[in-house]
Amino acid sequence: MDLDTPLQRFRTVRARSERLMAPLADEDYRIQSMPDVSPPYWNLGHTSWFFAANVLRPFGVPFADSPGFDYTFNSYYEGLGPRLPRHLRGKVAQPSTAATRAYRAAVDAAMVECLLGCPEGRRAELATTVAIGCEHEEQHQELFLTEILHIRASAAADLRQPYLPPRPRTVDRAAEPTPMRAVPLAGGATTLGNDRADFGWDNEYPAHRVHVPDLAFGDRLATNAEWLAFVADGGYRRPLLWLSNGWNAVQQHGWQAPLYWERDGDRWRRWTLRGLVDVDPEAPVGHVSFYEAEAFARWYGEQFAAWRHARLPRECEWEHAARTFGFDQDGGDLLDDDFAEAALDLRPTRGTGPVHQLAGCAWEWTASHYEAFPGYRPFPGALTEYNGKFMDNQRVLRGGSFATPRGQARLHYRNFWPADTRFQFTGVRLVCDR
Ligand code: AVJ
Ligand code: FE
Repeated sequence: MDLDTPLQRFRTVRARSERLMAPLADEDYRIQSMPDVSPPYWNLGHTSWFFAANVLRPFGVPFADSPGFDYTFNSYYEGLGPRLPRHLRGKVAQPSTAATRAYRAAVDAAMVECLLGCPEGRRAELATTVAIGCEHEEQHQELFLTEILHIRASAAADLRQPYLPPRPRTVDRAAEPTPMRAVPLAGGATTLGNDRADFGWDNEYPAHRVHVPDLAFGDRLATNAEWLAFVADGGYRRPLLWLSNGWNAVQQHGWQAPLYWERDGDRWRRWTLRGLVDVDPEAPVGHVSFYEAEAFARWYGEQFAAWRHARLPRECEWEHAARTFGFDQDGGDLLDDDFAEAALDLRPTRGTGPVHQLAGCAWEWTASHYEAFPGYRPFPGALTEYNGKFMDNQRVLRGGSFATPRGQARLHYRNFWPADTRFQFTGVRLVCDR
């Protein structure tokens, strides 16, 4: 339960976004290194616009505004008016970064006024919308980290700068990683969806009963050592391992390894938020698409007798496992308030339960298409567009990554991305039938 008042929570979340951007150079703010990557100035403006459109206007609190901000910072809400097309966010000089900051400050001041002056009768409504705005901004904090990683990766290799200073680390290259354990998980009737009183997005409801088969659940995420073996065994060259669309993507994009992997002589290195590092054999693999995860599962099933017919978990199986094994004992590295001290990278963390890394390492691709739960009702009003209209051609991811703000990693949280997405912090959990 979050015992913060809405005002405290608002201030904490807003300040953290700014702290996350403190390491940036002026140039960074305008870069859109690919269409899916929004420039940081846009992130600052969009998260402010969200409060302007969904709180300040409905509650009638005036603030210094201009129609140009609505046009620039509306992401995808058809109901809220025309927008700057997504792929042009990095191609406009206005609003300048300074004007965006001034807009953000004006929204902050008006929000404080709104929260302090709210009439008794509208406090519950205000608290709900402010909570949504804060959760939204936290989603954009993780997006920002994936975006700055990509932005900084895009410069010439000799010139590129890490987001945070490199950290010396010792990788024991001789270590033989212990094989993945297939932890038995009894199936049966279980609950899927949000059945708790904490915050939830509309797409987490309604909680409903589903049947899950008996399973063996991987005790950890797939590692880089395992991924290296997949690469060495021709995983990216064997069409029979891949879904048809996955194989098309391999050929079209020339995938040969996870995103940000670079071959350096006979070893592999990875571009991270702390620069180029050796691939740590024991750390979870990251930056793989659903297609790669799915092909890897098929390959894994061929390698090990205990993992015959290995596959990705369905969403209901993942949630059943997390309820059973304890989502909070995963041993991950969720992004804390003092994020500067956080590792901000994939590490071979271990928790206390039988199953590790359920949150705080990498988002876990599930086999499930992103769809409405039976009885789903989108949020009312403008926010009806928040989640529901994306329930098409995407896959669900569960858990949370090292870049996920602590409060955002919740048992029921449904992340979703198209199957060929690689720039998010995505990894691989395997299951097999028993
Ligand atoms: C849930 C991460 C897929 O990036 O579009 C941000 C989060 N929604 N603003 C996205 C989101 C609205 C969403 N993901
Ligand atoms: Fe958004």
